[in-house]
Parts: sequence; C-alpha cells; structure tokens
Amino acid sequence: MNTTNKILLVTGGSRGIGKSIAINAAKRGIGVILTYNHRKEQGEAVAAEINQAGGKAVALHLDTAAVQSFDHFKGQVVQALKDNWGRDTLDYLVNNAGIAQRSLIKDTTEAIFDELVNVNFKGVFFLSQTLLPLVKDGGHVINISSALARVSFPGSAVYGALKAGLESLTRYFAKELADRKIRFNSVAPGAIDTEFGGGKGDKAHRQQIASAVALGRLGDADDIGMYVASLLSEDSRYLNAQRIEVGGGIMI
Ligand SMILES: NC(=O)c1ccc[n+]([C@@H]2O[C@H](COP(=O)([O-])OP(=O)(O)OC[C@H]3O[C@@H](n4cnc5c(N)ncnc54)[C@H](OP(=O)(O)O)[C@@H]3O)[C@@H](O)[C@H]2O)c1
Repeated sequence: MNTTNKILLVTGGSRGIGKSIAINAAKRGIGVILTYNHRKEQGEAVAAEINQAGGKAVALHLDTAAVQSFDHFKGQVVQALKDNWGRDTLDYLVNNAGIAQRSLIKDTTEAIFDELVNVNFKGVFFLSQTLLPLVKDGGHVINISSALARVSFPGSAVYGALKAGLESLTRYFAKELADRKIRFNSVAPGAIDTEFGGGKGDKAHRQQIASAVALGRLGDADDIGMYVASLLSEDSRYLNAQRIEVGGGIMI
C-alpha cells in the first residue's frame, strides 16, 4: 500500500531517528527507501516491519562518507524505484545519517575532524547533489541538524559547527533549486534518547540533560520521526529554507 503515491528516501534508517522517520512516513502512506551502513540486518528488519504492516519499503546499503560510491548508489535507487513502484522519481529526501564524535578541542585529531566532515557535511552535500535529479520538481528535502548548532556544549565543537554549516547549506540549496520548486528545510533535534554517540550515559547524566529541557525529559526517536513525517505532506507546502528545532525547549 502506497496510498499517497509519494516516495521518500531516508538515510540512516536502520535505527534511531531514521528508523522512526521511515516507519512514521510509511504509516502516512508514503513508500520508503531507507539506507543502512553497518547494520544490514536492522535496516532490512525495518523494511520488513513496514512491509508486514501493509506499507512498502526497501533497504539499501549506503556509506555517506563514500562519495565515490554515490553514482552506483543512485543506480540502485533507480532500480529499486522501477522494481517496486514502476517509476524513476522520489518526492522526498531526508538526510538523517550522522555520527557523534565527542572530543574537546584540545583532543580533536585530524582523523576525528575529517570523519565528522565526511559523514555529517560533505556526504550530505554530494549525496543531495547526486540524488536531486531524481527528486521531482516540487519535492521536499529535509536535513537533520542538531540543537548543538545553536547552543555550545564542550566536546561538540566540530559536530555543532558542522550542523550549523548544514543549516546554512540547506538555505543555499533552497536558493539554487528554487527554479524547480524543491523545498529544503532543516530539523534540529534536541537531546534524543538513541544510541547516538554511545547513548546519553548514566541516570545522573540523563537527569542533568533533562533538567535543561523545558518539557523535563529527553526526547525519544518518535518525537522526531513523527514530526519529520508530518512535514512530508501538503500541509507544509509553503515551508522553505527554515530551521526548526524539535527539542522540547532545550537550553532556552
Ligand atoms: N540522538 C540525538 O541526541 C541527536 C540530537 C541531535 C541531532 N541528531 C542527529 O540525528 C541524526 C540521527 O541520529 P540518531 O540519534 O538516530 O543516531 P543513531 O541512533 O546513532 O543512528 C545513526 C544512523 O546513521 C547511520 N549512519 C551512521 N554513519 C553512517 C555512514 N557513514 N553512512 C551511512 N549511514 C550512517 C547508522 O547506520 P548503521 O547503524 O546501519 O551503521 C544509523 O542508521 C544524526 O544526523 C544526528 O546528528 C541526533
């Protein structure tokens, strides 16, 4: 069942926020191509869960740091679209895959810096560049940013600055793709309880984070997944080039 006749590609759909985006988009009748990197079984399990629930989903491998693989990946996307939906276009792209590498500035090596750049920034740029020819005119691209683009937290300098860069990049894409009426927005989650960066630590640390949130709790993957899925509809058709923070009111 693909009741909306819309198709989403979401990166990093094997777990966490990306998994929730995939499942909640499918619940809204959107066909889903999700990607996994290291966790093939989990990626395929998410697709199976959607298919068993009456939706339609396919899982493909993608390493967003491997720019040289993107042309091959695009070919696989075209094949998956043809085989499963009999078409060759996407409506929505959500660049969600990302990594955390917490280290103080004094401890940040070039290797840590480069890995963060490659996955969280360079990969998003070139994957979008590669896939945009497949995105229908009038489509919607959402980049997953972070509250750390707005607030500064020791150990997150490179990560936070790259997310801020991603938000800027989002506006540039909106500008340059305006002729195709493709909209670009960034969604910035607050502290979300996933495995990201090894998770949110022990009870005391989690309570400390929660105390900085107006709603008094960490978010869960569905707090973000449901919201992002809700943006994949005509209801948000005039939303463009915006940053939307979904963090329960963190550090306000
Ligand atoms: N959790 C938070 O507190 C939080 C807060 C703000 C923003 N965010 C952002 O939200 C997004 C998702 O985070 P999450 O919490 O869901 O993280 P997560 O639970 O750690 O999941 C990360 C996902 O990204 C994929 N991934 C990691 N490296 C990849 C690579 N090189 N190529 C392709 N896929 C890769 C993983 O795939 P495999 O498992 O298959 O390897 C997995 O599906 C990230 O962009 C993150 O920066 C998270």
